[in-house]
Amino acid sequence: MTVRTELSSWKKLTSLAQNMQNIHMNDLFAADSERFDKFSIKLPNILFDYSKNIIDDAVVKQLLNLCEQVELESWRDKMFNAERINLTENRAVLHTALRNRSKKAIVLDGENVTDQVEDALAHMEKFVNQVRQGQWKGYSGKRITDIVNIGVGGSNLGPQMVTEALKHYSDQSVNVHYVSNVDGAQITEVLAPLNPEKVLFIVSSKTFTTTETMTNANTATQWLLKSAIDKNAIAKHFVAVSANIKNATDFGIHPDNIFSMWDWVGGRFSLWSAIGLPIALDLGFDKFIELLDGAFEIDEHFQQAPLNANVPVLMALLSLWNCTFLGFKSQAILPYDQTLHMLSAYLQQAEMESNGKSVSWEGEKITYPTVPSIWGELGINGQHAFYQYLHQSNNIVPGDFIGSVESVTPVAGHHETLMSNFFAQTQALMTGVNEEQVRADLKAKGRNQEVIDKLAPHKVHEGNRPTNTLLLSQISPKTLGQLIALYEQKIFVQGILLQVCSFDQWGVELGKGLAANIETELLSDDVVQSHDSSTANLIKFYKSVKAN
Ligand code: F6P
Repeated sequence: MTVRTELSSWKKLTSLAQNMQNIHMNDLFAADSERFDKFSIKLPNILFDYSKNIIDDAVVKQLLNLCEQVELESWRDKMFNAERINLTENRAVLHTALRNRSKKAIVLDGENVTDQVEDALAHMEKFVNQVRQGQWKGYSGKRITDIVNIGVGGSNLGPQMVTEALKHYSDQSVNVHYVSNVDGAQITEVLAPLNPEKVLFIVSSKTFTTTETMTNANTATQWLLKSAIDKNAIAKHFVAVSANIKNATDFGIHPDNIFSMWDWVGGRFSLWSAIGLPIALDLGFDKFIELLDGAFEIDEHFQQAPLNANVPVLMALLSLWNCTFLGFKSQAILPYDQTLHMLSAYLQQAEMESNGKSVSWEGEKITYPTVPSIWGELGINGQHAFYQYLHQSNNIVPGDFIGSVESVTPVAGHHETLMSNFFAQTQALMTGVNEEQVRADLKAKGRNQEVIDKLAPHKVHEGNRPTNTLLLSQISPKTLGQLIALYEQKIFVQGILLQVCSFDQWGVELGKGLAANIETELLSDDVVQSHDSSTANLIKFYKSVKAN
């Protein structure tokens, strides 16, 4: 297979990137009154505007040409058709099967995955209804009032982000809490106000081996047994979501209460599976299905829309253009909707764990930048913290601005203030303000020449900073499902364009292994001999302070 840099489209994009260094988006807008129509797409419930990027027709043409040359559509079809595109782990990638609302058969190794998914959904629905309607009782016969989800990474971020985003859709039949950190501070704080008789724990771990999750699960067991005494209480207060039935059963969870996971679902793409149980418990099963419906709509769009009108494809192409070709190495996620306050944390894992790699799927060292680092914060809070950097730093940070036409919690006057900032910021980042305008403005304000000369350079905004705008009708289970699936499919496309294996995460293994050894050393009295001198002395210092 031709390496990406040898493709004719790649070479053309490299030279187009050089040409675009001297182009300002203001001029691109001035030259084309149709630019917004050309570079925006209306999906049901979501408007995607990408006109404020440093692109023109020639760039878009070559980006689309690149899609052809890397056979993107064929890879996409392989994913949906259960081929083993997770090459290093020899697995299919079928999180889309979890929201396959058409229920059409998807066959993997002679088995219909759709049937497995439908069985798992039925299992979830029964359980969710039992808990929410108070039929599921704790060891003392009381109904469950609080759910504590114990999991980390993909077994935490997706469900927690969605729970937060949709909290106004909850009827509060139960209260949902999350514990992910092995720092005992978190579980202590979560459990402190709770009554063990009324708590149900979900131990959410695909592997059921993750140290942090197992440590928290063991602490939760001890907390329960302090009050329940009888070990049989565990079966009434713990359920698991895992692909590792043996470990979950050994932990004391009744086999009937282990919800299925499969090796063809990556952790960071798993909120559509039983990993989403806390979402369904919080909102009710019907609303969980609406979330899946929204994602399914995007999967259909991704498979059917032509590449030039395909939102996830364009999102990935723009990321590639900005990072790999223009050299903008980080990207901000900037929601102007309080409910999306965990979105950037969620997308950090989704994008960076998937595509933060530097070896191609052929095993060759990659010489070009792959994906940007992802970071972000609620837009308004960010404006009063780091937007100075977005507007005037030498480092250009493309941003995704995400907002809603209608607020889920309208308060007179608030939404217009919020959204006026939303629109103003992408405008300011794009247009900027040049020295001539700054000087004229200062003069109009009556400043003398000396002050004008002193202040003018500081008040110049170069502009030309790329942004995408995703404007949703309103946050709802369905629109949120759409939004998440857009990013998931964007990440898939990025992986194909960059030629990286998006569905493994070998980079997290080295640290995990070292931590296991160091933990043994922290617990022993032996002098630590191994490690580099920095690490050895840090451990030595830690142990000596602890001993005194
Ligand atoms: O360490 C990274 C990781 O493997 C993630 O990919 C995953 O989402 C997380 O840990 C949790 O894994 P598990 O669900 O197996 O506990």
